[in-house]
Amino acid sequence: MSGPSAEEIKGLCLPLARVVEVHDALASTQERARELALAGTPHGTLVLTGAQTGGRGRLGRHWGSPWGGLWMSLVLRLGLEVGLASRITQTAAVGVAEALWNFGVEARIKWPNDLLVGGRKICGILAESGVAPGGRLDYAILGIGTNANLDPSDLGVTDRGVTTIRSELGQDVDLLSLLRSILTNLDIALGHIKDFETVLDEWRTLNCTLGERVRVRRFGETVEGRAVDLTREGALLLSTPGGTVELFEGEIEHLAQRGTP
Ligand code: BTN
Repeated sequence: MSGPSAEEIKGLCLPLARVVEVHDALASTQERARELALAGTPHGTLVLTGAQTGGRGRLGRHWGSPWGGLWMSLVLRLGLEVGLASRITQTAAVGVAEALWNFGVEARIKWPNDLLVGGRKICGILAESGVAPGGRLDYAILGIGTNANLDPSDLGVTDRGVTTIRSELGQDVDLLSLLRSILTNLDIALGHIKDFETVLDEWRTLNCTLGERVRVRRFGETVEGRAVDLTREGALLLSTPGGTVELFEGEIEHLAQRGTP
């Protein structure tokens, strides 16, 4: 199965496809993009592959990446302070969600990095950073895995919590058009990352976490509360019986539907 070629992608003339590498198969686009970042590749370097043999998700988890998905990593040089690194994930979630809506896929952001349709995961985002001396980010590797032209059963996961564009729309999408939409919306969202107010507004509109009662596991402890807001640093605020807790990381579980006691 063939996806977009490097020539087709370069022909889009997009700021986030300034340097393009396309592979048939790769262990992980994250690792390849990091090699390129360390070698000094510019902002807007894109690594795309047809399949991954060692795709990685958050917390070192395996990420099933068979043919038909859109598996990519971008090298970003945003000049952000280290303390604002969490904004990258939230900003990317907004950009990718908006791209999926353009295709009729009504994706919602589940904090911190999942895009869900009807409660099932359709896309995962993995932002990893390298720090420069002086406390700014040298680079960020933004990995985006979109379950596109495949069936949920192709993903090799046992739970029912995954979906794909094919199963949502009942048809496949043109991967070059999908890529163009993702890169375009991402570039627009990243253009607001320093100010962040626009991203926050869009995130609040697109998310499915705020208002929910959630359980979060982090650093070996469990916190329960109601998700009340996203901060300017990209942290989730939880209202708990012991007060407000600010979360930058964590494994989150929605406990009940909005509106239920
Ligand atoms: C998650 O939800 O845990 C994040 C998943 C990120 C998957 C993408 S696919 C492209 C890039 N390469 C990887 O190995 N991982 C990311």
